[in-house]
Amino acid sequence: GQSLMEAARDHDVDGIYGDCGGNLACATCHVVVPPEWVPVTGQPDAMEDDMLDIVETGRTETSRLSCQIL
Ligand code: FES
Repeated sequence: GQSLMEAARDHDVDGIYGDCGGNLACATCHVVVPPEWVPVTGQPDAMEDDMLDIVETGRTETSRLSCQIL
């Protein structure tokens, strides 16, 4: 299947780049999940959480890296 990042990139969603190809190494696939969707998307694991630390603007409590949303 596709990650959310791949689906967004394939549809030219503005601001989703996925520069590292989904390898948890860039954070250019950052998204903010609406709180009501968190039960569906789940929570970031420790590695994703570390990578979210490099998001420069707009990180929130429900930030995710969309390449990790499958
Ligand atoms: Fe690089 Fe998601 S595409 S971290």
